[in-house]
Amino acid sequence: MMLQSKTAVITGASRGIGRTVLETFAAQGCRLLACVRTLSSQTLADFEVIQSKYGIKITPILLDLADEESVKDAGRTIVGQADTIDIIVNNAGIASGGLFQMTSVTEMRKVFEVNVFAQVLLTQSLARKMTRQKSGSIINIASTAALIATPGTLVYGSSKAALVRATESMATELGAFNIRVNAIAPGVTRTEMFDQMTEAARDSLVNRGALKRPAEPQDIANAALFLASDLSTFITGQVLRVDGGIV
Ligand SMILES: NC(=O)c1ccc[n+]([C@@H]2O[C@H](COP(=O)([O-])OP(=O)(O)OC[C@H]3O[C@@H](n4cnc5c(N)ncnc54)[C@H](OP(=O)(O)O)[C@@H]3O)[C@@H](O)[C@H]2O)c1
Repeated sequence: MMLQSKTAVITGASRGIGRTVLETFAAQGCRLLACVRTLSSQTLADFEVIQSKYGIKITPILLDLADEESVKDAGRTIVGQADTIDIIVNNAGIASGGLFQMTSVTEMRKVFEVNVFAQVLLTQSLARKMTRQKSGSIINIASTAALIATPGTLVYGSSKAALVRATESMATELGAFNIRVNAIAPGVTRTEMFDQMTEAARDSLVNRGALKRPAEPQDIANAALFLASDLSTFITGQVLRVDGGIV
């Protein structure tokens, strides 16, 4: 029970990596504020199963990172509902592929809005509560695309690189309040985002890794659990690569 009596906010909690982080944290006794863009009856039923399986509480929060008002509303709702916020996992994000010469500024703005600006805005509103508590762990889900350039990744890679840099800045400012801020850089991971990539792009990245396989969402959730827990109390401002050994 590594997260007993802690409260975590997880964005993009209905599927993919976020859904796996949700269940991994639930299994460790964590109370959860699960941010979802829409609350379908299927997602609600799924959350109910997790709640009763692990005996924890999940509070769904509506959040659309593409809509500034929604981000502000979600921030206010979370701060109003949670007694404490111990962990934030900024997981939700969108992919975008396209060659540099074909990239529109409109597409760049759309991706940066979700993958960078909204992440900072949400974290600003939640971190205020953490600074009063004088503790917390913030985990931003970046990507190896932030660190390794391959064709067609200008927009997505740049947005994740900006998130990594924002992580480092936040770590330097929030350390004085005993708040740690780290990023995880997953390699190719088997989710719906995986299905959006071409087979050639996926294979080329997977084959650059020492382990020669894509990540499973659980590989990323395990790293998030480590960074959320007291096993990592002296780790901040770091990018933890979970990419099967791209060296
Ligand atoms: N899969 C990979 O290969 C890979 C590799 C490196 C990094 N990552 C990063 O890992 C994170 C999770 O990705 P994933 O693979 O789990 O992707 P995914 O299966 O496509 O899930 C994306 C999640 O983000 C949410 N989301 C998207 N746009 C949103 C918005 N405007 N507002 C609120 N939520 C929104 C989705 O919610 P809905 O269900 O409402 O659409 C969904 O829960 C992302 O930040 C991604 O960039 C993924």
